[in-house]
This record gives sequence, structure tokens and C-alpha cells, in this order.
Amino acid sequence: MTITENSTFTFRQAGHEDAQGIAAVHVRSWQIAYKGLINQDYLDSLDIEARAVSWQESLSNPNNPCITLIALENNKVVGFLTIGPSRNDVFTDDVELYAIYIDPDYFGKGLGSGLFKKCHARILKHGTSGMFVNVLTDNLRGRDFYERMGAKSVANSEFSTKIHRKSYQEIIYYWPSLSDIKL
Ligand SMILES: CC(C)(COP(=O)(O)OP(=O)(O)OC[C@H]1O[C@@H](n2cnc3c(N)ncnc32)[C@H](O)[C@@H]1OP(=O)(O)O)[C@@H](O)C(=O)NCCC(=O)NCCS
Repeated sequence: MTITENSTFTFRQAGHEDAQGIAAVHVRSWQIAYKGLINQDYLDSLDIEARAVSWQESLSNPNNPCITLIALENNKVVGFLTIGPSRNDVFTDDVELYAIYIDPDYFGKGLGSGLFKKCHARILKHGTSGMFVNVLTDNLRGRDFYERMGAKSVANSEFSTKIHRKSYQEIIYYWPSLSDIKL
């Protein structure tokens, strides 16, 4: 699905005033999308106010090298995406997609691809090479989405990551060039 001319959605870069809205989407999206994938007690413990505090800090930090783009409907945040410098030893010159989360009520309405379009334009301005993202191996919706957006899983890239003291498998998806991003 693509966002049409008549769409009520708008996209822009986030500021610290958006922290609360982003935190609400972040928590709701985790709780729905990661049900059965991540420990339920941990998902239940996620707290929007606590998340909002850390979003407020990072969005107010003038030295934060990441960019967060948000999708809004009637001024309410319904999705966000964060990109920034690579934290990976191999893909050092590439942009890292740190996060993309849509409000579960809006899954499949074109917001994920809309945010990709926005971030693509942003990255092009910086004349950088490709982009990668770490995704939970069991997150089939996320993996399917990245494949539709033109990424390929990197062979032998699975690694173990800790979320709240429990181990999970993640895998890397990669767009070697920004022209590989399907918009
Ligand atoms: C994954 C996610 C970002 C996709 O965003 P979205 O707004 O739901 O996706 P879109 O509506 O833009 O869909 C883009 C394409 O993927 C397809 N798609 C979306 N969800 C899908 C699903 N569950 N299964 C199959 N295809 C799917 C759409 O049909 C669309 O294809 P089309 O343009 O050919 O119709 C969103 O569902 C989400 O936030 N999921 C939970 C959080 C998450 O897993 N984030 C990634 C963490 S690494």
C-alpha cells in the first residue's frame, strides 16, 4: 500500500516536544509486534513515561548524531524511524537504521514505506553509501518488510543479543547502495 495524495499523514523530523508521542508508539509497537518473541514480563513492564524521558534526553542532545523522522496523523505521532552512524565493525561507512516502529493500529497502511521514502531523501543529501539494520531473527513481519524494501539478509550475520538479561538471535539486513532501497 502506498500513501496517496489524499492521505492525512504528514512526515517531519522529530524534536524534543515529540518525545511523549514517540514513546507511546515505541511501547505499543513492542508490546504487539514482539508478543511471543520477547519475554512477556518484560513487555508488560515497558513504561511510556520512562521511555519518554529517554527520548526527551536524546532528542534534546545537540551532540546526538542520529535523526528521528516521524509520521503524524492529525498531529499525533503514529510512527517513527531513527537512522545514524554505524555501530557495526564491518559496515563502518554505512548508515544504520536503529529503529522503525509504527503504531499497531496503523500496520500495513504504508507508513513504514513512507518513512523510508523520507529517510532516503535525507541520506542522499549526505552522499553516503548503503544502509543496514539488525532485526530479531524471529521477527518475520519486520524481515518481510525489509525484503520488500529491497534489503537482503547477510549470510552468516546472525548474532546473539541481550534484551533485559535474556538472549535473542538477531540477523543483519543490508542495502549495499541507497539505490537498492525500493520506494
Ligand atoms: C515492520 C513495519 C515497520 C512495517 O511498516 P508498515 O507501515 O506496517 O508497512 P507498510 O504498510 O509501509 O508496508 C510496506 C510493504 O510491506 C508489506 N507488509 C507490511 N506488513 C506486512 C506483513 N505483516 N506481511 C506481509 N507484508 C507486509 C505491505 O503490504 C507493503 O507492501 P506493498 O507496498 O507491496 O503493499 C511495521 O509493521 C512495524 O512497526 N512493525 C513492528 C515493529 C518492527 O518489527 N519494526 C522493525 C524492527 S527491526
